Amino acid sequence: MMKMPTPSIDSVKVAVRVRPFSQREKNAGSRCVISMHSRTSTTIHDPKHPEHTKTFTFDLAYWSHSGFQVDKDGVLTSADPNSKFAGQRDVFRDLGRGVLDSAWQGYNATLLAYGQTGSGKSYSMIGFGANKGIIPSVCEELFQAIESRQRDHEYQVAFSMLEIYNEQVRDLLSRTKEPGGLRVREDPQLGFYVDGLTSVPCESYAQIERLMEQGTKLRTTASTNMNASSSRSHMVITIQFKQVFLDRGLTKQAHINLVDLAGSERQKSSGSEGDRLREGSRVNLSLTNLGNVISALAEAAAGKRVLHVPYRDSVLTKLLQAALGGNSRTALIAAISPADICYEETLSTLRYAERAKKVRNRAVVNTSTLMRESRAENSRLLLGSGNSRMAAPPAPLHQLSWAHRLERAREDWQLRHAAIAQEQQMLKTLPHLLNVNEDPQLTGVLKYSIQAGSCDAGRAASNAIPLQGLGIADKHASFTNLDGKVTVTPHGKCKVVVNGVPITTKTKLQHLDRIILGSNSAYLYIGFPSERGSEDLSRFDYDFFQLERAAAEGVSVDKLGAGSGGDGQADPSVLAVFQDYIKLMPLVAEANQMSEELRKGLKMELKVKNLASSDSRGYDLQKEVMVKVTNQRTREVWIWSKAKFINRKFLMEELYQRFLDGEGSHVAQEDDPFWDPVEAVHLGSAHIWLQPLAYCMMLEEQVEFLNCDGLEEAVLHVHLTPCSPAGQARGEEDVVIDPLELLGKRMDFQIRIVRCLGTKWLKEDAGRGIQMGYRIYDHPHTLYTKPVWKIVNPQIEESIQFTALNASQEFLNYLQTNALLVDLWGLQEGCAELSCSQQDPEGHIMVDTKKISTVMDIGQTPSNQISELYLKLLKLEQETELLRNINRALREENVFLKESLEKIGSSQQAHKPPNTLRINGMTAQLPAAREMNRVCTQQAGYDREFAKAIKVFYQSMNMARGQFLKLRHCKPPEDDQMLRPFVHQQSQMLKDFGDRLESSLWKLKNDVALIVKWKRECLLHSQWGHTDGKH
Ligand SMILES: Nc1ncnc2c1ncn2[C@@H]1O[C@H](COP(=O)(O)OP(=O)(O)OP(=O)(O)O)[C@@H](O)[C@H]1O
Ligand SMILES: [Mg+2]
Repeated sequence: MMKMPTPSIDSVKVAVRVRPFSQREKNAGSRCVISMHSRTSTTIHDPKHPEHTKTFTFDLAYWSHSGFQVDKDGVLTSADPNSKFAGQRDVFRDLGRGVLDSAWQGYNATLLAYGQTGSGKSYSMIGFGANKGIIPSVCEELFQAIESRQRDHEYQVAFSMLEIYNEQVRDLLSRTKEPGGLRVREDPQLGFYVDGLTSVPCESYAQIERLMEQGTKLRTTASTNMNASSSRSHMVITIQFKQVFLDRGLTKQAHINLVDLAGSERQKSSGSEGDRLREGSRVNLSLTNLGNVISALAEAAAGKRVLHVPYRDSVLTKLLQAALGGNSRTALIAAISPADICYEETLSTLRYAERAKKVRNRAVVNTSTLMRESRAENSRLLLGSGNSRMAAPPAPLHQLSWAHRLERAREDWQLRHAAIAQEQQMLKTLPHLLNVNEDPQLTGVLKYSIQAGSCDAGRAASNAIPLQGLGIADKHASFTNLDGKVTVTPHGKCKVVVNGVPITTKTKLQHLDRIILGSNSAYLYIGFPSERGSEDLSRFDYDFFQLERAAAEGVSVDKLGAGSGGDGQADPSVLAVFQDYIKLMPLVAEANQMSEELRKGLKMELKVKNLASSDSRGYDLQKEVMVKVTNQRTREVWIWSKAKFINRKFLMEELYQRFLDGEGSHVAQEDDPFWDPVEAVHLGSAHIWLQPLAYCMMLEEQVEFLNCDGLEEAVLHVHLTPCSPAGQARGEEDVVIDPLELLGKRMDFQIRIVRCLGTKWLKEDAGRGIQMGYRIYDHPHTLYTKPVWKIVNPQIEESIQFTALNASQEFLNYLQTNALLVDLWGLQEGCAELSCSQQDPEGHIMVDTKKISTVMDIGQTPSNQISELYLKLLKLEQETELLRNINRALREENVFLKESLEKIGSSQQAHKPPNTLRINGMTAQLPAAREMNRVCTQQAGYDREFAKAIKVFYQSMNMARGQFLKLRHCKPPEDDQMLRPFVHQQSQMLKDFGDRLESSLWKLKNDVALIVKWKRECLLHSQWGHTDGKH
């Protein structure tokens, strides 16, 4: 009887690795937020608050960010002896060797790579080109070690490779695809295993290399529909390693699981917040659940009572049950980006790793007697289960069956070896296409040579170039290779894009041309050997294709606005929107294709929200991408946020996958990712500047509602009229020269929405309606006009009277610097109308603006800063009050002086004193009282004239401003031929704008000169009159 082995209790070993900046991060001017001061510590700096840092201690910290050079073979090595750079060999030395040592001792070993998309998981696990990762190195060294061992022992190595995507297991070494994936079963002794998974016996590293290539190829083909799907899938490679000690009748066996996990940011079911279908997606289930299992195990290790570890809730955790808390020695490599823009994700990865560190495993040496094994094998054969396991206790392999399997694998290997050699020969001599995938690991994996003559490409297997992918037709395009020239011709209306530009006719290809077939299958064309040089093909990555496509569609950082500031650096927020745009563009193309194939009739378009709008102060609003969704049948329209679109895209993929698997695509309406209840849609905004109100002037405006493309959506007629409390319009005599004169007074004005003209939304579909909404000052509610349906130029005629009971300084400032922002909403059949009637029945809104500021001052003071600002404001208001009092006192004094002058005037007739008065050292002629009266009335006349002149000037300036805004929002046409008329129109507009400016200035100068002249003449006249009187 064999003794039960004692388990070795180990914590999960955790390593962090930080990679170099990616090109995208460099373009965005990223800063590095990670530092590593020792072999075990990792510090992360909050880019928004540099003083906030957090340091984590792990078993290992790998600095792969800088301090390296590329040697002649392309291997990244330390740039100098002092560099702390950790290359692939360093990582292998610790983690890979650890895995191998465990396996030789008979322990199961698991290595997991965790981290956000693009953080370097696959780079560490698999590697790129000459920079081999842990998996190939482990396999290579395993065979090297076997070679050097004793001959009287037998070593058996079997290799399997699977992918878990959307909770389905796909065998990456088998061409037959099981609909719904392979089943995960549970055996009371063996635990969970994948039923029917291919496990190939291998005798050399070269064989493993070939199997990995084969698996990667299948993975690439599987991801041709959705490029990004590979980063949402988990890849698991399992090496079963058995040592047979014939002399002792014993075996030692180990399962090595090497797991490249899906991008971790997907676990937060990417921004499904606010979406009706937020819980629907299964894409992230495995990863989310892995986190739950790790958390539960970490708590258990910390001594907390954990009743249930949810291994059974997802496929991945079932398969990793032994690796987490069970019979395995486990290590986790947390891959992180160095860039500030990834700060949140990186921090969350580090926290995840910290939890994983606490998980404790109980690994045992898996030994068995040969006798016991053959008994177990017999019973296993009786059970009828497959010949491989994953994450289950090692599978006993019968001697004979092992020899038999080896023989079959050898035959297969020879056949494939010949096919690979032939393919390589063809690629050397013939022009060909190389696939380009979002995942660099999967780029260049599919190769299609273009034979002499003509060959068809498409979905049908009969094509010389059989292609798969969304939007690829059975016969999609044909390639010809004639007289040393290669051309491509799309079939019918099939989509073919060459170097970013869609083509419809035969097009000649040049070496390194970029071709996109269907919605998003990207290929790089490699020309004849004579055309090839020593170019770096990695330049033509997925981003390159998308940027080129975007540029051809007229989208660039410059086009998105404010290309660069004075320092030549593009505005970071614009860059971020641009990055989002590039990222979403192919996803939108894929979503459209799925909608078409599933006959959903939705058309999705990428838009940049707020491209043209600004807030009520005229500041540009934060730009963001969004997706406009139109049901082409019903013409219903929705606007989806980026997050909602990404969530929906996951769900669409799941539905589409079911459709491809022949399960049909029917879903109940409430679960349909292509459906949403109709809602009101924001069409555009208009700005009406309120400044005239601060001078008690009325304004009648015709302003454009600009949509997110900066184009006119409709025209709004609106009147803003200062009025009496009873609603009587004020006249010119009420115009004030200084808004301060209104301080503390009651101010009333009417906002009258007169009509809305030429609404495109209504023109497109006569059954639609509109509503307008606006907010004024601090009034907490948006006021909506009544909905109008089915009229293209509706007369609205709605007014409200706004009253500020005690016009505060703040309110007056608001009037002078803000606009009334009116939003235009599109209503569609079946959607709820926007309702808000917060005014009183007579259409009155009354606000005590003074009270508001006081309430805010005492009430909620969210931060010290704000309360400080309010104190300052209050002080300023007090000072203004003081100034007002002084002003009042001065006026009273003035009246008093006037009266005394009158008195003096009348007594002067009797005494005739000298006609001068000394004020503040100035000597002024003292007019007679009658004169004085006249002067006073005249003074009021000048002021009125002055106010009039300013009003006229203001109004024409306002018009100039309108012209200027129009100019600013004009977008150049995409069609080059339209450029000339555009420039012509622009210069005409500029001229008009200039003319208006000139004439306004001239008019103001003239008016002021006239007033001054008039004043002077009056003064002279009065002097003359006085002198006349003397004589
Ligand atoms: N340590 C490193 N040194 C140099 N380049 C690296 C390193 N780590 C990652 N990279 C590069 O960063 C890019 C992204 O890496 P990788 O494909 O490994 O990310 P990933 O985490 O597997 O992403 P996904 O979740 O999408 O699969 C690749 O181009 C890779 O070459
Ligand atoms: Mg990867």
